[in-house]
Amino acid sequence: MICACHQVGEATIRNAIQAGDTTVESLGARLACGTRCGSCLPELKRIVEEERSHERTDTSLELA
Ligand code: FES
Repeated sequence: MICACHQVGEATIRNAIQAGDTTVESLGARLACGTRCGSCLPELKRIVEEERSHERTDTSLELA
């Protein structure tokens, strides 16, 4: 569970990022995570960055 206020878990967040919500703001718009107390924002940012760097790695592997 990443966002306790809105009961949003890590898997849900990663799925949303892969579906195109690649910023904390758009995750908040879709899932409401990070829009109440804000204490999960650092975690949300970390997951967004992690998923984005996976994307970059995948792309470079495809090109190679
Ligand atoms: S824990 Fe996510 S807004 Fe409070």
